[in-house]
This record gives sequence, structure tokens and C-alpha cells, in this order.
Amino acid sequence: MNIFNTKLELKAFLAEQKERAKSIGFVPTMGALHQGHLSLVKRAKEKNDLVVVSIFVNPTQFDSNEDLKKYPQTLKNDKELLESVACDVLFVPSVEEIYDNNISSEKFNFDGLEHEMEGKFREGHFDGVGTIVKALLEIVMPNTAYFGKKDFQQLQIVKKLAEKYDLPVKIKGRPIYRENDGLAMSSRNARLTKEHREIAPFIYKTLKKAKKKFGAKNIEELTKWVKKQFKKEPLLELEYFTIADEKTLQTPKKIEAKKKYRAFIAVFAGDIRLIDNVGLK
Ligand code: PAF
Repeated sequence: MNIFNTKLELKAFLAEQKERAKSIGFVPTMGALHQGHLSLVKRAKEKNDLVVVSIFVNPTQFDSNEDLKKYPQTLKNDKELLESVACDVLFVPSVEEIYDNNISSEKFNFDGLEHEMEGKFREGHFDGVGTIVKALLEIVMPNTAYFGKKDFQQLQIVKKLAEKYDLPVKIKGRPIYRENDGLAMSSRNARLTKEHREIAPFIYKTLKKAKKKFGAKNIEELTKWVKKQFKKEPLLELEYFTIADEKTLQTPKKIEAKKKYRAFIAVFAGDIRLIDNVGLK
């Protein structure tokens, strides 16, 4: 695996590869890799000649400095995992390399997608995500970039970013990877206490039950039902449960047969914030 820390070196290497008409698949990450990330890398390998992964803990997308400092950093293990799936190129820039001396985000207009769900609770988060994803896509210039559907809102926002800035890249969403007990894989899971880890699968269990009830109960009733379930679980604190149109991310007034909907949830397990979602029929 070729490892680069500077844009210049990475770009020079990729320019050479592109001359030989290689298609490039890209998986941006913040490290602390798990099987979910590796499944994206494997998919990128299947579909492209060359795979680039970036590991960059992006300071502008965190809600607080405290949260940023606590983000797990496991570079040595990440490198081993990437070697195990035959990743071709790893880009690990420093904060200065990306932001120079100006650690701030651009302001984006994602046609309202940024104001829903996570946007209501994490101010400026999607400006930070937009800033780094745009910068990375401009550096790597991949043919296709891969994102997990656990961060479904992020995926839709990145699609909008590529469309608005006319970036010549296909954005692909890939299925959520889950632990055997159903908990969606996340780098944050490693920070859960034993008690919180044991109860955390309750989130997906409740989503699955809500999915079954969708249609029989209307959205308001379903939301009430979910809130009630979480009231019974003192170790988990529900931040939001929302049903939204997959395209607009807005809660529909009326369900239309032709549209696709998803249930989205954010829950605190102690001070760890977990998100998840399921597609609805
Ligand atoms: O999903 C993530 O890990 C991050 O938000 C991303 C896309 C790598 C941008 O920092």
C-alpha cells in the first residue's frame, strides 16, 4: 500500500496512474476503521482499478473540541486492516495540509437537506462535512466515491454537493454494516461502556418494530410509540425519531406509494451519540 501525507505527492502519483487509464475508487474516512469501512473498500476494489482511502479526522465537522479530542485514533491498526483488503493508496494528511492556518468551513446551501435531522442538532456539521469532502474529491478526483448509508443524510448531502459543484464523480451509497446483535457499526461504538454496549441494540430493534408498524400507524402515532419505548430504557436517551422522504429528507404530510421513505433515529447512550436508519416499505 502506498501511503501519502501531502496533496502534492498523492496528486503526482494519481496523475501517473490516470495516464494509464486507471479508474479510481475513493473511500473517505476519519479512521478507527471497522468492517463497515472495509466493505466500502472491498466494493471499491471490485469496481475500480485502484482504490484510495483517506484517513482524516476533520476538525470542522465536530460539535465541540471535547468531542474531537475523544475521537478514537487507531492509525497503526487501520493500516493493517487496509493492507488486509489490499487497499492501494492511503492518504493521511495533517490538519495544516488540508486547512493551512485557517481551520474553518465554507458555508454551503444544500437546498435545505442540511437543515433536517442532524442539521437541527449539530449546527455547522454539514458545512464541515461539505468542506472536507469537496476538498478531498478535488484532490483525489476519483471516478466513484463510496459512502455508508448509516450516515444517510450525509450521503444525500454529498450527492447534492457533487451535483451543485459539477464534480465529475459518481457518489455511491452502500448498505449499513451491523454487529451480530444489530447495532450499526460505528467508530464511536468502541467508546460505549459495557452497560451501554449491551443495551445499544435496542435502537435497531425498535427501528425494525417501527418499520413493521409503518402504514398501520400514521407518522405521529409511530413517533409517539417510539418515544414511549425509549422512556422505558433509562440507559438510552432518544434525541429524535423521524420519518422522512429519502430525497428531500422532509417528513411527509401524506404517504405516497411512489416515494421512498426512511425512519431515522439519534440516541444518546451515556455521552455517546448513536445514529441509525432503516428503509420503509
Ligand atoms: O463519514 C465520515 O467518516 C466523515 O464524515 C467523512 C465523510 C470522512 C468526512 O470527514
